[in-house]
Amino acid sequence: MVEIAILGFGTVGSGVAEVIDRNQKSIRRDFPVGIHVKYILDLRDFPDSPYADRVVHDIHTIIDDPEVEVVCETMGGKHPAYEFSRMALEAGKSVCTSNKELVDAIGGELAVIAKQHNCSYLFEASVGGGIPILRPLRTSFSQEFITDVMGILNGTTNYILTKMEKEGLSFETALRQAQDNGYAEKNPEADIEGYDPCRKIAILASLVTGGNVKFQQVPCEGITKIDTDDFRYAASLHRVVKLLGVCHHDQESDKVYVRTAPYLVPEGHPLYSVSDVYNAVLVHGNMVGDLMFYGSGAGKLPTASAVVSDVIECAWNRGRNVDIGLHNTDADLGDPESVKDVFFVRMDASEKDRAQMLFGGHVQEVKAEGVNGEFAFLTPEMTDREFTEKAAEFETLKKSIRLLQG
Ligand SMILES: NC(=O)c1ccc[n+]([C@@H]2O[C@H](COP(=O)([O-])OP(=O)(O)OC[C@H]3O[C@@H](n4cnc5c(N)ncnc54)[C@H](OP(=O)(O)O)[C@@H]3O)[C@@H](O)[C@H]2O)c1
Repeated sequence: MVEIAILGFGTVGSGVAEVIDRNQKSIRRDFPVGIHVKYILDLRDFPDSPYADRVVHDIHTIIDDPEVEVVCETMGGKHPAYEFSRMALEAGKSVCTSNKELVDAIGGELAVIAKQHNCSYLFEASVGGGIPILRPLRTSFSQEFITDVMGILNGTTNYILTKMEKEGLSFETALRQAQDNGYAEKNPEADIEGYDPCRKIAILASLVTGGNVKFQQVPCEGITKIDTDDFRYAASLHRVVKLLGVCHHDQESDKVYVRTAPYLVPEGHPLYSVSDVYNAVLVHGNMVGDLMFYGSGAGKLPTASAVVSDVIECAWNRGRNVDIGLHNTDADLGDPESVKDVFFVRMDASEKDRAQMLFGGHVQEVKAEGVNGEFAFLTPEMTDREFTEKAAEFETLKKSIRLLQG
């Protein structure tokens, strides 16, 4: 039996215990030794829980017990998650986590410590919840040069955008529904401002390039400025608004370009029909082409399932390090302002002539049913820098959204 401990008995942590108990038979089919939860560390006691007798409050109970081989860190936040993870790794115990904030901020350092102590630091659940994406990237793409990884990486914002698109709800009403249904937190900032998907695309970019990309280095735009008229325009372009994390790795220069922003996704694109709380990650390998990974991006049991998949991998690799390809060196980031895109722009109709003049007469006007008094158009393809300079010339510019190339 492999003994494990769970740090943080909240949504994901209690799910880890449940997955292990309910699916012990399936786990033993592949890993006959079996997995057992020996300790649960939390601030609270859980007197009514079947796990009440395993709850401890002192991390040293876990660190000092040589029987504990794997620790699941499902507390979230940076501190004390970092200190506890570090202590476990230094004691030779592998750590499996769902904590994207910690992985993005200090994951490279923890991965190095794991290597030094012949154990592992795995974080499948930190990106895409229940969707297996990090392990396939590590085990199935060695022969590939991955040029692009992009995805819908946040279920809350995808739910809000889907409600706005399909039911014509305002952003505020859709957000309230997401909160009422338990999909959005009371403080939804990390989701709606794009910080959560930004952390996830930073982790994916780090794994694809082998160098560290930090959340703070990635231009990040959320969905708070998206309104229902954007969906009307999008429909007339046979597109839909989606919040995407986008990473392009240029094979010639080896530079990586990363961004989180709303995009207009064309009909027929694999990400077009990913709706509601679902997530999807599209990977393009230079030999294999496009592959898409789709499923539940969050939630107690899907996320816990991903944590337990890491536990089993650590258990299979007792006494040795599983190299996840996260290193403690910086990635070679390209200048995001040099990336070329076509922009969809909305401004007051009074500036139409100036817009046509400034964008060189190559603009393509876009009309939407029921929207009046505006001039909306597509720019020619141009760099972000060129667009920002031109956009600054207008007083009534309401909106610009990038077009995702088909
Ligand atoms: N929920 C999801 O669907 C999901 C999906 C993917 C990733 N994640 C990530 O998984 C992590 C956990 O999320 P969650 O939703 O499970 O959070 P949660 O429900 O708030 O659970 C966290 C648990 O850790 C406990 N805790 C906090 N500080 C502690 C400390 N110093 N010592 C011991 N226990 C402590 C909390 O106790 P108190 O309640 O008393 O503070 C709580 O029981 C986060 O990093 C989150 O981003 C979550």
